[in-house]
Amino acid sequence: MLAIASDHGGFALKQEILAHLGEKGISFKDFGCFTDRSVDYPDYAKAVTSAIINGECTQGILICGTGIGISIAANKVPGIRCALCHDVFSAEATRLHNDANVLALGGRIIGPSHAIMVVDTFLSTPFSNDERHINRITKIEK
Ligand code: RB5
Repeated sequence: MLAIASDHGGFALKQEILAHLGEKGISFKDFGCFTDRSVDYPDYAKAVTSAIINGECTQGILICGTGIGISIAANKVPGIRCALCHDVFSAEATRLHNDANVLALGGRIIGPSHAIMVVDTFLSTPFSNDERHINRITKIEK
């Protein structure tokens, strides 16, 4: 199950991504926000990262205006590896190398068509399981 949330700055892009996930038959849980009224992005980072840490969801997507604030907040949580990606190469690399479990996007930075390509790449790329990458990820948590 995929967890997804945004603040007001990411709300419009979240709606586009939700429609795409629905078309592809990908199961998701939407943790808000549900309007474009101004809200605080750390609250949404907390909702998605908690769902991953407690096992309810396996991966997440977080969207704010730039993707910066919400990724900073998510990466405060032990066990969360949140990658801010605005291109397909980074989305693929962060799955292969970092085993990122959360993708962050900036709704004011990237258009919906490109964002959807980034999302599809992130969701379809497995972790490489290379020993050197496992060692490096382990060092992040220490
Ligand atoms: C909200 O205006 C904006 O600061 C937020 O969406 C995000 O870009 C923060 O990093």
